[in-house]
Amino acid sequence: MKIEPFLLERWMTRHETHVKYDIAESGILPLTVNDLLSFEPEEARAAALEALLRLPLGYSEARGTAALRSALAATYTSVTPEQILVTTGAIEANYLLFNVLLDAGDHVIAPYPAYQQLYSVPRAIGCEVSLWHVGPETSYRYDVDALERLITPNTKLIVVNTPHNPTGAMLSPADAQRVYSLAESVGAWVIGDEAYRWLSVPEGDPFAPPVVDMGARGISVGTLSKPYGLPGLRIGWMAGPPDVIKQCWGMRDYITLSPGKLNDALACLALRHHDQIVARNREIIVANLAAASAWIDARRDVLSWTPPRGGLLALLKYDLPIDSLTLADTLATEYSVMLAPGSAFGYEHHLRLGIGQQPGIFATGLAEAGKCLDHVRQA
Ligand SMILES: Cc1ncc(COP(=O)(O)O)c(C=O)c1O
Repeated sequence: MKIEPFLLERWMTRHETHVKYDIAESGILPLTVNDLLSFEPEEARAAALEALLRLPLGYSEARGTAALRSALAATYTSVTPEQILVTTGAIEANYLLFNVLLDAGDHVIAPYPAYQQLYSVPRAIGCEVSLWHVGPETSYRYDVDALERLITPNTKLIVVNTPHNPTGAMLSPADAQRVYSLAESVGAWVIGDEAYRWLSVPEGDPFAPPVVDMGARGISVGTLSKPYGLPGLRIGWMAGPPDVIKQCWGMRDYITLSPGKLNDALACLALRHHDQIVARNREIIVANLAAASAWIDARRDVLSWTPPRGGLLALLKYDLPIDSLTLADTLATEYSVMLAPGSAFGYEHHLRLGIGQQPGIFATGLAEAGKCLDHVRQA
């Protein structure tokens, strides 16, 4: 397969190990194993640690352990453990699904801007990809009428991502249902990339049900990376019809075979403490959203944004005579701040902000970024 470079990943790799203030990060501040253990009741902690230390590190169950699949299935209303395939992050789930569901020449609709995988992999398969714009053209919000205009009788797949990376847009429950019904009317699949599930923001929008719970054409993709702050576990999954799960499992036999056994066990531990993790995330989001709003308000002459309605991300628009890659590189190399260049998403004069960082680092990162913007403005 010939595939275009993943622009954001290439850019992040250049700076992510050097900068002090990563406020472009797409996830929430990561948890440690110690954090996970500390969520256990005190009397159970030693036994939980001992169980991890004594776990034989053999190959794991290929689909993910029954315990993990059961815990994940229980997060949906209509899904059995047989309908879950645990994958190496949501990225592998998406990749398998695109390769199993799509053939060259199929028509696919994907959001844009977006996590690049969502349109680049279908393109690499040879699909005709229509881009569903969620950028400044639609005030960084989903427009389902625009989606309807893109649908053809040959549409094979509609990809949704709500909350959306990079704008924080959300599909309302009614809009999500409409997307599903539109897909169903032409016999298309809907993949819901729900990587930002469970990450609500103050005064944000209500979450639509996961697409897998909407009907037989819906497949949900999830991950512990963003909502649990556990990207290093590389635990994602898909939830969908048994036949699709079986085919994806068959393809995965040739790629990564099974999840890491320790990662699977840590994921089970984390899922037992969902409510504590969501509450911990909420504190970070509340603090950082307030700091970001105040920082942008103080720079209204050069900055504007539509705050996220859910998830962790937003695009900032800036009015300065500098392209986004040069600005992002200057921020990283001279101010030790990472804000992702809009050009990686196809949108100039934008920067992507992530509100999941540790609040002290986030606030200092904003202050440093402010110095850089002031400098550029005065130049
Ligand atoms: C929308 C979206 N989907 C999927 C992924 C992949 O996440 P992971 O493979 O870490 O689960 C990301 C990561 O940034 C994302 O933003």
